[in-house]
Amino acid sequence: MKKIILFFLVCSISFSQKKTIEQRVDSVLALMNLEEKVGQLVQYSGGWDTGTQTVKPSEAHEKLISKGKVGSFLNVFGAESTKRLQKIAVEESRLKIPLIFGLDVIHGFRAIFPVPLAEACTWEPELIQLSARWQATEAASTGLHWTFNPMVDIARDPRWGRIVEGSGEDPYLGSLMAAARVKGYQGKNLSANNTIAACAKHFAGYGGAEGGRDYNTVDMSERTFRDVYLKPFHAAVKAGVGTLMSSFNEIGGVPQSGSHFLLTDILRKEWGFDGFVVSDWNSVGELIPHGIAKDLKHAAQIGINAGVDMDMEASAYFNYLADLVKEGKVSNKIFDESVKRVLRIKFRLGLFDDPYKYCNSEYEKKTILNNEIVKATREVAKRSIVLLKNKNNLLPLKKNLSRIAVLGPLANSKDDPLGPWSAQGKPGDVVTVVEGLKNKLGNKVEILFEEGCKVDGSSQDGFGKAIEAAQKSEVVILCIGESRSMSAEARSRAYLDLPGVQETFVKEIYKTGKPIVVVLMNGRPLTINWISENIPSILETWYLGIQAGNAIADVLFGDYNPSGKLPVTFPRYVGQIPIYYNHKNTGRPYDPQNHYTSYYLDLESTPLYPFGFGLSFTTFDYSNLSLNKNKIKKNESLKVSVDVKNSGSMDGEEVVQLYIRDLVGSVTRPVKELKDFTKIFLKAGESKRVEFTITPEKLKFYDINMNFVVEPGDFKIFVGTNSEDVKEASFSIVD
Ligand code: BGC
Repeated sequence: MKKIILFFLVCSISFSQKKTIEQRVDSVLALMNLEEKVGQLVQYSGGWDTGTQTVKPSEAHEKLISKGKVGSFLNVFGAESTKRLQKIAVEESRLKIPLIFGLDVIHGFRAIFPVPLAEACTWEPELIQLSARWQATEAASTGLHWTFNPMVDIARDPRWGRIVEGSGEDPYLGSLMAAARVKGYQGKNLSANNTIAACAKHFAGYGGAEGGRDYNTVDMSERTFRDVYLKPFHAAVKAGVGTLMSSFNEIGGVPQSGSHFLLTDILRKEWGFDGFVVSDWNSVGELIPHGIAKDLKHAAQIGINAGVDMDMEASAYFNYLADLVKEGKVSNKIFDESVKRVLRIKFRLGLFDDPYKYCNSEYEKKTILNNEIVKATREVAKRSIVLLKNKNNLLPLKKNLSRIAVLGPLANSKDDPLGPWSAQGKPGDVVTVVEGLKNKLGNKVEILFEEGCKVDGSSQDGFGKAIEAAQKSEVVILCIGESRSMSAEARSRAYLDLPGVQETFVKEIYKTGKPIVVVLMNGRPLTINWISENIPSILETWYLGIQAGNAIADVLFGDYNPSGKLPVTFPRYVGQIPIYYNHKNTGRPYDPQNHYTSYYLDLESTPLYPFGFGLSFTTFDYSNLSLNKNKIKKNESLKVSVDVKNSGSMDGEEVVQLYIRDLVGSVTRPVKELKDFTKIFLKAGESKRVEFTITPEKLKFYDINMNFVVEPGDFKIFVGTNSEDVKEASFSIVD
């Protein structure tokens, strides 16, 4: 009888549309016992069975679900698999609370888009929002409710393998990309059946790892933390992100998965975030090796009290949370609040109304890899490519060539263009560069493909055949870089040169005297000085996803005029790192006339390619930079305008970039800070006046007293085609 009453109670909560989500959350909470509450805060991973290629949570997992002892799974997907588990949750568990299924959908589920760092090169937040929308549509059709993305960590050190997962070094660009992805994944209505909850990660400061070594210690001032590293997280929260993931790293002695300051004071109290925080994989358990927890029970106590609501895979909450609550080491208030946050997101996703809304095999089949999604991956891919060099306009190539050599270990790789974190991306779906060129050119142009060498390793056995192919051809396309397993988590590198014998290979091909286009595929800026000096044309393509080859062919043959700009600085040498455009001036900025200034005796001071850099097949001239006022009050906006002319002979797009410098502040300010940009299309010969508005919000920073304010003083404005090639003007802010 009791069971029947409970069933009707839960159903009435689930289907009662009139109640607000908050009332429904409270009603469910009121029915829950201690174990069930703990269950909502536990997440386990379903195992991937490589033999059967299916996702298989164990029988033990299924028992836990039936007892309401687990609230979420990661790495379980597929309409059928998720349905089976959801059925156990909503039919067998006492309170029938649905599970939430999450996966790392970082740049696509099956239809793989460019890696996030590449997408950031588009400088097109609307397009990136669309990319995330497509990714969510596909992911949702496979029973997923939640992606552990966007990764919004600022990264100023390309040795750090995870730089590939984010949007680069700049807080402004990073914030726009963060918000775009959140909006794309979550759509307008989280309860629709093609939207999924986003998760801003890794909260926070993970990208500041000393030496670029993954998981390493981070130490930075609160000012830098807030002004740079937290900005994209705040943008994600303002965009309505459903969840955040607490990071592995410590900052100044405090592991972030145990930081009350971050997870409660800043996130909840300052920013008003009401979704939930999931730990990173075992990051609560890692409070032990970090050295702030004596055992797993202690780790659970620190984690939940700090503000980590859901424990991913550490089993800390599963094993100890109930006791901690009974012992009073975790208050009922804190505990209940965490449970409510998880329930709130489940309600917002509409899971209480229809726990199976994402589990429809027919819809899944129709949605996965459909034509429209594939088309979108190509569109985003071609717009992510950055033209680094194009001496004497070698590119675009003419389609009436008779023979092209397509060389290098990445020229026909079916695997690498997928990049890391490629979810269910399949090598079979990938169009390689060789294939893309064949698609573009048909049989009219002969394509000679030779690998020449592997990405890594020392064998030069393939050089001979590749040289022969180059000699027979009119042009050589050389596809080199890193294999996809060289970037992302636990993939830090100490050297950023091309791995293996690739540079030697390039030098050998160069000796043939043939015109060469280097096509780079890599997950981070590389130190490519020799190539940059000697090879006439260079395309940075990162990992572009399933349509890589078609997108690259579009650019090589001028069917798309490249418009990408770097979201990260390219160093000349590893010894220059960290090198980023928005650095401080120091008391002794580098002066070639003065020995006692800030530089290295044995390195050049400038980057190989600056932040914001990227060429086009046409050229753009900037003139008539003007401001509507030279003095503004603290609460006023400033209008900045500039004429941009397409002075070349091809239509093209340009990212017009605006930077400022605050010359005198109560604290030091960066030498340049990106504050606005816009991407415009200009026909050959066409001009446009571009206008920006600098609002007070854009001028705020943390002053000497850590107040977020606009300070009066003198400023410079820079507008141009990258962070170095700019026009200048000045203005002042008066009290
Ligand atoms: C990574 C996260 C990821 C999680 C779940 C962790 O190792 O740091 O970025 O979301 O695993 O796969």
